[in-house]
Amino acid sequence: MVDLRGRDFLKLLDFTPEEINHLIKVATTLKKQKHNHESHMYLKGKQIAMIFEKDSTRTRCSFEAGAVDLGMSATYIGPTGSQLGKKETVADTARVLTRMYDGIEYRGFDQATVEELARYSTVPVWNGLTNEFHPTQMLADIMTAKEHFGDVKGKKLVFLGDARNNVANSLMVICSKLGMKFVSCGPKDLWPNEELVETCKEIAKKTGAEISFEEDPMIATKDAHVLYTDVWVSMGEPMELWEERINLLKPYQVNMKLIENADKDVIFLHCLPSFHNTGTSIGKEIEEKFGIKEMEVTDEVFESKYSKVFEEAENRLHTIKAVMLETLKK
Ligand code: CP
Ligand code: NVA
Repeated sequence: MVDLRGRDFLKLLDFTPEEINHLIKVATTLKKQKHNHESHMYLKGKQIAMIFEKDSTRTRCSFEAGAVDLGMSATYIGPTGSQLGKKETVADTARVLTRMYDGIEYRGFDQATVEELARYSTVPVWNGLTNEFHPTQMLADIMTAKEHFGDVKGKKLVFLGDARNNVANSLMVICSKLGMKFVSCGPKDLWPNEELVETCKEIAKKTGAEISFEEDPMIATKDAHVLYTDVWVSMGEPMELWEERINLLKPYQVNMKLIENADKDVIFLHCLPSFHNTGTSIGKEIEEKFGIKEMEVTDEVFESKYSKVFEEAENRLHTIKAVMLETLKK
């Protein structure tokens, strides 16, 4: 019997496979209710605070729209306009918000900050992305894979690109928890930190998961069920890194050659936002400076039948609602 009432949601390492699968199951029910326009205001009258020290579309909207769907209200605290960080510490902010709200979402830089916020708060704290982890994203990713494959145990998921960023780290954790075959594919310099790898390998021993690392994208993607990529430079990293990353990561761009090398039933996932064309200001700037129109994924793959990225984006809403519901319900 899974009971997550009062729990924080800071990283997936803190959760059992049963708890993770339970959250995805609850999200599936909430998705059906939303699609059928059935009221599901199970948390009527509660209030949440959402702290965003970095930009967001999906995560912010999922928490905010999700809170309203569940009968709650939400307060957005952006990178400017609050006292946090400038005049007030994380610990003091936590002790203030905890007296006013029933739950607190945090997106920012160090994982240590969200952990500190949780330590000083008596209400659940949810990690909406840090430099190290992006745990709510993972629930949506696995939910999307389950919608396509049914069971994901034994399925091969390959992450291509900056293999030690928050999304790649979190994928390695969830794949190890759920008994999947995870391949981290990128240049050695960008492989994840040893300590996290060791932790995941220990988990894998119990769940039957396999964790491996590969520099050659053709070897990595052979017979894969999920190809996953993310931006080559993450929020908080300096713009000057683009040139180095483009040179390092160009061979890891997800293109049709890699899709054709994978299992015939392969799907493409991306947490988004994505640089698959030059329709953004950064996309244009990169084209002008470096002469490339597509980065981590080609427009052809992004727009293809293999791509489930918008189903995945929608599932952010349902899975974030599941996290709020299960941690806040009476
Ligand atoms: N995938 C994701 O977290 O998107 P946002 O940055 O738009 O929230
Ligand atoms: N790795 C990306 C994920 C965005 C959702 C970043 O941190 O910018």
